[in-house]
Amino acid sequence: MTLKLAIPQTSKLRKKDFIYGVATAAFQIEGAAESRLSCIWDTFCATPGKVSDNADGLVACDHLRLWQSDLDLIESLQVDAYRFSVSWGRVINADGSLNHSGVAFYIKLLDRLAEKNIKAFVTLYHWDLPQHLEDKGGWLNRETAYLFEDYADKISRVFGHRVHSYATLNEPFCSAFLGYEKGIHAPGIADLGAGRRAAHHLLLAHGLALRVLNKNSPKSLNGLVLNMSPTYPKSDSAGDIAAAQLADDFLFQWYAQPVLAGSYPEKAMAYIPEHQRPPIEDGDMAIISQPMDYLGLNYYTRAIFHAEADTAFVETVPADAALTDMGWEIFPQGLTDLLVNLHQRYPLPPVFITENGAAMPDTVENGEVNDIDRLAYYDSHLNAIHNAVEQGVDVKGYFAWSLMDNFEWAYGYQKRFGIVYVDYETQTRTIKASGHAYANFIGSR
Ligand code: NOJ
Repeated sequence: MTLKLAIPQTSKLRKKDFIYGVATAAFQIEGAAESRLSCIWDTFCATPGKVSDNADGLVACDHLRLWQSDLDLIESLQVDAYRFSVSWGRVINADGSLNHSGVAFYIKLLDRLAEKNIKAFVTLYHWDLPQHLEDKGGWLNRETAYLFEDYADKISRVFGHRVHSYATLNEPFCSAFLGYEKGIHAPGIADLGAGRRAAHHLLLAHGLALRVLNKNSPKSLNGLVLNMSPTYPKSDSAGDIAAAQLADDFLFQWYAQPVLAGSYPEKAMAYIPEHQRPPIEDGDMAIISQPMDYLGLNYYTRAIFHAEADTAFVETVPADAALTDMGWEIFPQGLTDLLVNLHQRYPLPPVFITENGAAMPDTVENGEVNDIDRLAYYDSHLNAIHNAVEQGVDVKGYFAWSLMDNFEWAYGYQKRFGIVYVDYETQTRTIKASGHAYANFIGSR
C-alpha cells in the first residue's frame, strides 16, 4: 500500500466537478457549551454510565475558539467543501427568538469559507436537541417538528445566499432508533413505539423544513442525510433471506422509503404491534416525500442477519472479518451494493456520500500519525463509489468523516475518526498520513 489514493485515471471521481470535503458536527467539536442552551447530549453525558469515561461535550475540540485555525487546516487539505452542523440551541433561544451572537459565529464561519472558496454544506440537526424541548416530549411530541420548521425558516433567512447545500437532518435512524428505541443514545429511551413515533416526527420535521428551505434558499441543494448499511443474509436459506430483508426494511428502508417513495415498508409495518405504529396524520406522507435536490448517504459497514427460532432477525459479524476500532467490518463492496440497490429501487436524486471513514487505533510517533489502515479504507471505499458510478449511479461528491478526531457519542473521546489527530490536552492538530494523501489526491485532479 503506497501512501496514495489509487483511483482509475479516467474515473469521474477524478473530475474537478466531483466535490470532495471533510465533515464534522457541532456537538462533537464545538465546545463552548456555556454560550448555548443545554441539549439532550449534555444531559446524557451527565448521566453516569451512558458515555465512556463519563466524557462530555463541554470543550470537545474547542472549535468555537479555534475555528479560524481550523478553517486554515481545512483549506490546507485542499477540499472543495466543508460539511458542518449548526447547534440549534446556539442560534435559537428558549423563547424561539434568534440568538444573535450564536448566529454571528456561523455567519463569520460561512463568510470565511466563502473567502477561501470552500463550499458550505450545512446540517441543521445533528442530534443536539435543546433539552427544554425534550422536557416537553422531544421527538415524541409532534410539536417539535413544527419548532424545527421555524428554526429552519429563521436560520435560512439570516444565512441568505451563503450556503451551498442544506441537510435538514443527519441520520434520523440514530436519533430515533438509537435514542428512543434502544436507549443507547440521548435521550436514552428504550421503547419500540417511542422509536417509531420519534422517527415519524423526525421525517415530518425534515419535510416541513425542506419546504421552507426551498422557499428561502431556492439556489442551494436541499436534502437529507441517511445512514444505511446494505443487509445480507448469513446463508442462502429462505429463513435467513427473509430475516435480512425484514431487517433492511425495519432498520434502513424505514427512513428511505417514506422520503423517496412516500410510504413505510409494508412488511416491517406489519411486524410492529398496532399500538406501536407511527402516528401518521393526513397529508404527512406528501410532506415527507417532497422531491429533494440530493440524498446524502453515510456509509461505514454492512450488516449480516439470520433468523432464529424466537427472533425475526439477528445480526452477526463474520468471524474472519477485518474490523475497524469500532468493531465494524471493513466491507467496501457494501457501498457499491448499497448505491446500486437504491438506484434500482427508487427514483433516486443525485447522491452525495456525506460521511465515510474509519476509527483506527492511531498513535503519534515523532510527530506523525502513519495511519495506513485508514488510508487503505479510504482507497477501497472511493474505488467502491467509482464502481457504482460506472453502473450508472449519479454520485456528486464525497466527504471524509471526519476532519478531525472528536467526541464519538457514547464512546466519548476513545474512538478516533479524524484524518487530523487531536491532542485533547493541548488542542494541537496533526494531519495524519491519510489526511496528507487525501489532500494530495484532491490537489492532483
Ligand atoms: C455517524 C454520525 O453522523 C457521526 O456523528 C458519527 O461520529 C459517525 N457516524 C461515526 O460513528
